[in-house]
Amino acid sequence: MSAQTPAGAPAAAAAPERARVRTAVLISGRGSNLKCLIDACADPGFPAEIVLVVSNVETAGGLQFARDAGIPTAVIPHKPFPSREAFDAEIDRALRAADVALVCEAGFMRIHSAWFARRWEGRILNIHPSLLPKYPGVRVHEQVLAAGETESGATVHYLTPELDSGPIVAQRKVPVLEGDTVETLAARVLAVEHVLYPEAVRKVVDKTGESMK
Ligand code: GRF
Repeated sequence: MSAQTPAGAPAAAAAPERARVRTAVLISGRGSNLKCLIDACADPGFPAEIVLVVSNVETAGGLQFARDAGIPTAVIPHKPFPSREAFDAEIDRALRAADVALVCEAGFMRIHSAWFARRWEGRILNIHPSLLPKYPGVRVHEQVLAAGETESGATVHYLTPELDSGPIVAQRKVPVLEGDTVETLAARVLAVEHVLYPEAVRKVVDKTGESMK
């Protein structure tokens, strides 16, 4: 029996579903950016779907967002591995087993081997809480405040072997306000990260998505 509309007319044939880019998110902690990506992917029109969340930290809070959304998770602690390459090889295996085409790093607190960065080049993104190329690395907000900057922001960039230096996909700015602390500035930057990351994924997939699938 074919589907009927309430008025009894046959329902229009459903439009063929556009294949979405199979995406993995790598996290180490809270996972608020992961949550925003999950929410973005809940829209069937979003061009990516999250098929795997990987954490190197078993207690990472963000894993729960994945479980709540029914997304498979893999916990791969880095400590048992003898080298960066060996750890990365295990992550690489998990990504390939899930047939992943795009990787989004969202607060993943391990530096990758050059081998891994090259293997995923053009298909791996990272989000960083500064206006790169300014303030790569850690303790970003402390440095921004100490330097007396009047603006800061967030950057999504392609991951390359050089830390926080890959081609920039998208940026958003925020003002640094009188009396800001590390906490107030971090919160203002994080709020724009949550808008920026889904925008950046859409941009990358719209540009290169067909070759990723
Ligand atoms: C974000 O500020 C991101 O820019 C940085 O790590 C933080 C992760 O936050 N790389 P969350 O785990 O997504 O909440």
